[in-house]
Amino acid sequence: MAIKINQERLIFTLHTKRTTYQMHVDRYGYLLHQYYGRRTGGDMHYLLTFQDRGFSGNPYEAESDRTYSMDFLPQEYPYLGNGDYRRVLLKVADEAGTIDCDLRYDSWRLEEGLYRIPGLPAVYADGTNKDTGADAQTLVITLRDDVLKLKVELYYGVLPKLDIITRAVRIENCGKSAFTLEKAQSACLDFVTGDYDAITFYGRHAMERNAQRQRVGHGTMTIGSTRGTSSHQYNPMMLLVDHMATEDYGHCYSMSFVYSGGFKGEIEKDQYNNIRMQLGLPDELLAYPLGAGDVFWTPQVVMSYSSKGMARLSQNIHLCARRHIARGKWRDRIRPVLLNSWEACYFNFNREKMLELAQGAKDLGVEMVVMDDGWFGARNDDYRGLGDWYVNEKKLGGSLGDLVNEINRMGLKFGIWVEPEMVNEDSDLYRAHPDWAMTIPGRHPVLGRNQLILDFSRKEVVDAIYDAISKVLDSANIEYVKWDFNRSIFNVYSNSGLSQGQVLYNYVLGLYDFLERLNTNYPDLLIEGCSGGGGRFDLGMIYYTPQIWCSDNTDAVDRVRIQYGTSFGYPISSIGAHVSAVPNEQTGRTVSLKTRGIVAMDGTFGYELDPKKLSDEEKEEIRAQIRDYRRFARLISHGRYYRLSNPLEDPIAAWEMFAEDASEALISVVCLEIHGNMTVNYVRLRGLKKDCFYKDEETGAVYPANALMQIGLPVPVEMGEYRSYRWHLVKVD
Ligand code: GLA
Repeated sequence: MAIKINQERLIFTLHTKRTTYQMHVDRYGYLLHQYYGRRTGGDMHYLLTFQDRGFSGNPYEAESDRTYSMDFLPQEYPYLGNGDYRRVLLKVADEAGTIDCDLRYDSWRLEEGLYRIPGLPAVYADGTNKDTGADAQTLVITLRDDVLKLKVELYYGVLPKLDIITRAVRIENCGKSAFTLEKAQSACLDFVTGDYDAITFYGRHAMERNAQRQRVGHGTMTIGSTRGTSSHQYNPMMLLVDHMATEDYGHCYSMSFVYSGGFKGEIEKDQYNNIRMQLGLPDELLAYPLGAGDVFWTPQVVMSYSSKGMARLSQNIHLCARRHIARGKWRDRIRPVLLNSWEACYFNFNREKMLELAQGAKDLGVEMVVMDDGWFGARNDDYRGLGDWYVNEKKLGGSLGDLVNEINRMGLKFGIWVEPEMVNEDSDLYRAHPDWAMTIPGRHPVLGRNQLILDFSRKEVVDAIYDAISKVLDSANIEYVKWDFNRSIFNVYSNSGLSQGQVLYNYVLGLYDFLERLNTNYPDLLIEGCSGGGGRFDLGMIYYTPQIWCSDNTDAVDRVRIQYGTSFGYPISSIGAHVSAVPNEQTGRTVSLKTRGIVAMDGTFGYELDPKKLSDEEKEEIRAQIRDYRRFARLISHGRYYRLSNPLEDPIAAWEMFAEDASEALISVVCLEIHGNMTVNYVRLRGLKKDCFYKDEETGAVYPANALMQIGLPVPVEMGEYRSYRWHLVKVD
């Protein structure tokens, strides 16, 4: 059993294969956190210390005992009101505005399998992933505040094989008076000691998820997004690792948010050197009223722990995302190699151009052609047309069905771009329904890419856009959709009658409702998420869209850094990566086709260029690239991923895809620096089977695994910038 409960002493222990998580209800009914780390038995209560500390208040029931204080004890669900002055997960205001709360233990229950959250994505275990999902269980611990009549249920889901624990909170108003949630986060981890580094992922449009490692000092480190999406600016995942931790050494913890709206992540080192890491919704734009009988669910947080460094931590999250968050037909399948029209022609295409792109793609061995932005309404630039989801038949020289049939006849699949959450003021939709756009009455809205956000917190808006887009999907054999979102949310306001502090959360529920309908009604459709590249790259989206366009930056040298950061929390099967033309459209840099191919194969592979502009040699090279990709596709998307260097600091970028059965490994290296009389870089492999030998398929050279893992493979020294190398090593029996 994954979950063990000592009923007499109220100790709750969650076990996964290699980890243990423990909490305890103390004599005053507070739920204290005792331990999260390497798997062990026993009661870890001894780790908690009790001292009389000035200005740390004591519960009333403790009477003259001044050694007990919520100000320094590790907790499971900290809230404002019981004398804990650190960051908290919950802040509740009653009708008079009084901010207070006192939650005590009430009861527990166990459920087989993993809990689901109404309307929100969550890690699941069912008949489709029995192998990795075996013995999954849920523990629910109920806390109550008898004055506010507030019931809080803490949900813990355990995926034992993957070393994953999930958390979410259900909050219910069981009384008659309303109160308002001013902060409602999902999970925290309290540490009574430790010298830790925080690893977070900052960025911006076209330069997402730069890994930043910082020692945790006194004060609070905050990351987050109030943009209504998870955002380019910070990604909703955080790692807390031993100061000495490396890829294969040290204690490492992670938290990832299964949510695509805003978020807030905080890491605080307090006056007693305790550390608290927490993640959840941003409180800045939340004021969620709960009337009598109302219920609120926080989105889910996925946690993992590894005692052996960051590689294993990432691998746990990869497997969880790939098999227990992503769903549907495409979850376990190799995705088609596609060619996207965006960088090939932007808005400037017509029927002839699309057919020409398709013909060129077919000739290269590509499987699917995607018609990006510009096929609908008056959309010939990015100033107009969003919201008008009807085909521009003039531009396409006929119906979409005709065009797609012709492309299908060439033996190619067809995909299309949409941006359902948006509207331009210059559109028929806006002219008919100006109140569907989120703007604050009496004020000019903030524009982003000249567009406004549709109010997806209103069901009639979601319904109308869903109907329009499903008509397009029904009109042709469309096998792929790229779902975009090209600005941040601001001016949050709804005409729906919702209280304005609810709107952003309900907006995300509306988005998920739409995506859920799309998944249910079009089960064969492959959906790729996108938000100006990777502005909404999160585990919430992966539940609906198994792959996400990683960045609008397709420059291979920038991409190795972006993909490096992304790899900490997301599987390769979710990372959209394409080869584009040079000089690169975002950086002006010229990198060889070989290097661009190797980098794009660190994701779901495809092209973003006009085949007509390629030379015959380039075409030949691309055909070989696609053949290579097909050979390695399973290893790439289902293999175990190892980062072999840190491209933000090291002279090379290197990574490895390794077969679960240890039979083969694919090693890729991109040289980021070149100097005169260059010293040799060695790339040290990871995960290979000890004492075995691996053979380089291409040259026939045989290498001892032990030497490959201790000293490595020498990277050739050759003149020229951004050279790249790849080795496919196969275990010798
Ligand atoms: C976003 C996407 C691009 C492209 C454009 C179209 O920026 O990230 O890939 O689809 O929109 O407008």
